[in-house]
Amino acid sequence: MRSFSNHDPRTLSVHAGLEPDPVTGAIAPNVVTASNFAFQPDGVAFSANLNPDMTALPFFYSRWTNPTVRQLEQRIAALEGAEDGIATASGMAAAAALFFGVLKAGDHVIVSDVCYPGVRELASDILSDLDIASTAVNLSDLAAVRAAIQPATKLIHAETPCNPLMRLTDIAALADIAREAGCLLSVDSTVATPVATRPIELGADIVIHSLTKFINGHGDALGGMLLGKKSLIEPIRARVAVRLGASLSAQSAWLILRGVDTLYPRMEAIERNAQKIAEGLEAHPAVLRVIYPGLASHPQNELARRQMKNFSGMMTFQTKADPNLVARAIAGEGGTKLVHYAVSLGHQRSNLVLMRTDELMQSTFKLEGEALADYRRYAGDGVFRFSVGLEAPDDVLADLFSVLDRFR
Ligand SMILES: Cc1ncc(COP(=O)(O)O)c(C=O)c1O
Repeated sequence: MRSFSNHDPRTLSVHAGLEPDPVTGAIAPNVVTASNFAFQPDGVAFSANLNPDMTALPFFYSRWTNPTVRQLEQRIAALEGAEDGIATASGMAAAAALFFGVLKAGDHVIVSDVCYPGVRELASDILSDLDIASTAVNLSDLAAVRAAIQPATKLIHAETPCNPLMRLTDIAALADIAREAGCLLSVDSTVATPVATRPIELGADIVIHSLTKFINGHGDALGGMLLGKKSLIEPIRARVAVRLGASLSAQSAWLILRGVDTLYPRMEAIERNAQKIAEGLEAHPAVLRVIYPGLASHPQNELARRQMKNFSGMMTFQTKADPNLVARAIAGEGGTKLVHYAVSLGHQRSNLVLMRTDELMQSTFKLEGEALADYRRYAGDGVFRFSVGLEAPDDVLADLFSVLDRFR
């Protein structure tokens, strides 16, 4: 196995985990479609209980891992500075692997009060049925985090920047709190990517990703990953990847590896585009507010500069006019031609979607009092969550302005 300890992440992003094929000499990853691998009857235990390091050769069965999937696990682990990683079928499967991997009945978890709605719903609607209590806290408010810690707290789960608000969390400060409390800190770093932030270096125990977003970057594969120390990751692989079975397919792993090859130059281009588009939108008379970590007007711009080496490609904007009317104008006849009205993010093509505050409060976040007021400070009645792609930024601005000009 080639060792890459002293290399720059750009080098790791194209080499780590990749070995020339020992039979053909191929230097690009193979898509190993086999679900099943031949092995000798002695020396390979069937159960994850007896065979915890299921990533060692010979491969066994692709629900454990697979040669193509393993290359992806090693590549992302190298980029995050993690000892190991488990690839999962989606980002939600990584979140489920995290919660079911480290929590059991009677435990308590603190989750960000605003994060990807699926993760919040997993904690509030599903963990509660299993007698795992969760408290939703604004993790940017460190005093509130300290106050929420209980003797049963086993995990603090953060997301930074958080989806959809683009509010940031100070990972190093949260890691100090978690260490004092004797619990684990996990960070969903989907929007940041390792190009921007490496949470393990800042003291986090576990990083999770939806690989579906910027890391794959092309909107053609679902995937997720959970990364950390081998001593943490190994039992989680046995406990959930193997038993719950949400494994990543080799085809998706291959597409995502292909995406990772260009992760660094893509994120640099996306950040440049996003900065220009954020500044252009901020100056448009129909726009009330833009929230992007790279703007001086972001409420936590100082933290963004300290914690993010790249401001990534996601932003929100609010319009002065009723956002429902603007959304209909964007998505309808005569609307935008380049920017799709679509829900996901992190792809080569720009897209946006309206996230209505009332709807999210009712379906998921259920915030009240100061927490709701804080949400509204970032999002008003609703934000357009805008994921910037690789198009020329002037074309994207012209496309958006063709609609926004009607709401001046
Ligand atoms: C921050 C974040 N985490 C997790 C997820 C879930 O990922 P997936 O859709 O791959 O299951 C998403 C999806 O949008 C996300 O934005």
